[in-house]
Amino acid sequence: MRMYDLIMKKRNGGALTGQEIDYFVSGYTAGEIPDYQVSALMMAIYFRGMSQEETLALTLAMARSGQMLDLSGIRGVKVDKHSTGGVGDKTSLALAPMVAACGLAVAKMSGRGLGHTGGTIDKLESFPGFTTEISLETFLENVNRIGIAIMGQTADLAPADKKLYALRDVTATVDQMSLIASSIMSKKLAAGADAIVLDVKTGSGAFMKTLEDAVSLAREMVRIGKDAGRRTVAVVTDMDQPLGRAVGNALEVKEAIETLKGRGPEDFRELCMTLGTQMLLAGGAAREAGQAREMLAGALESGRALEKLARFVEAQGGDPGAVYDTDLLPRASLAVPVVSGESGYVTHIACEEVGICSLILGGGRETKESVIDLSVGLILNKKPGDPVERGEVLAYLHANDPGKAAEAGERLLGAYRIGPKMPQKSPLIKEIID
Ligand code: URA
Repeated sequence: MRMYDLIMKKRNGGALTGQEIDYFVSGYTAGEIPDYQVSALMMAIYFRGMSQEETLALTLAMARSGQMLDLSGIRGVKVDKHSTGGVGDKTSLALAPMVAACGLAVAKMSGRGLGHTGGTIDKLESFPGFTTEISLETFLENVNRIGIAIMGQTADLAPADKKLYALRDVTATVDQMSLIASSIMSKKLAAGADAIVLDVKTGSGAFMKTLEDAVSLAREMVRIGKDAGRRTVAVVTDMDQPLGRAVGNALEVKEAIETLKGRGPEDFRELCMTLGTQMLLAGGAAREAGQAREMLAGALESGRALEKLARFVEAQGGDPGAVYDTDLLPRASLAVPVVSGESGYVTHIACEEVGICSLILGGGRETKESVIDLSVGLILNKKPGDPVERGEVLAYLHANDPGKAAEAGERLLGAYRIGPKMPQKSPLIKEIID
């Protein structure tokens, strides 16, 4: 087999066989096929697309390029959840304890954040002492004992995807639907869960800006999951405004805890209830949606979900006291108000800009090597649909550096649109695809 022939076949609109896909994925991972040939192939795929069979073959080849996690040591059905990422997306922090309190095993591999969206691991490290660097043995034992464990992605999880994604990133070939779907699903399949619930975000703060693209991606990922023998459901959800009111690591942890205490923002609670319902159904812990919602509401009201979070934090070296007293979480030295210069209604908040404000304050990574400040971020007092008077506080910036706060404040003010009419509410849950 020759890489040249594969490139030409795809360039001319042909379909690659499973063997050909295995050949280039294993050859590239082993360093035997050079970047320039794989770049050319990625560009040919970008323009010609891939069939359903090719997409599945690519996903499986990437998943099998490293260790396929064996979760058979965990009792019961293992359910994973994945979000395509968004601003203020702290969902796993509340959702994992909620579903674990309903008896489901949550064995999750998470990542760190890069750019304007944060990663679950960074957020969890707001608990003093918390670590995701645990052995596979501890991971399995904790899931059996507590119901939740979260570990960092190992270097050997789908290494072919890691290499290909880095190459796509610098060759303008990231935004191709089949390549995105196979990239995400290769990691999910390798992580070993029996059932996968996908939260596919759409809107100005999401990777998929239009509903149409988000639905296509969701459908493609669901099809891959099912073809690979895993129960897979996707929920397409709104990311045209930040989720909840808190953006920034420790601030988001606090909001997730407040939600487990029954005092969280309505949109965030509803997202957790919807995704939790799909997880309980996919994992066979509930027979129908109404029953699943009741179970989740019970886990919140009884305090069982909050207790699960505390036990999980403690089992991974963190201070469980911070779950009950959030003043123990990292706190910034300044809370700087951002004040409205107009009266009317908030009609829109440029979501990505809010993420960038958190980045400016030091809450995100500009490069992989950046050290992040867990204490900084924003609390949005006003969200789309809220009335606002001139001089009222739109948001508070939690900062440690007055200069950065001034820069972020100016940018945040520019992200708010205020108009005379109350805007139409955009639904949080757009579509459920199974
Ligand atoms: N996220 C991934 O993991 N892969 C992609 O290709 C795009 C987003």
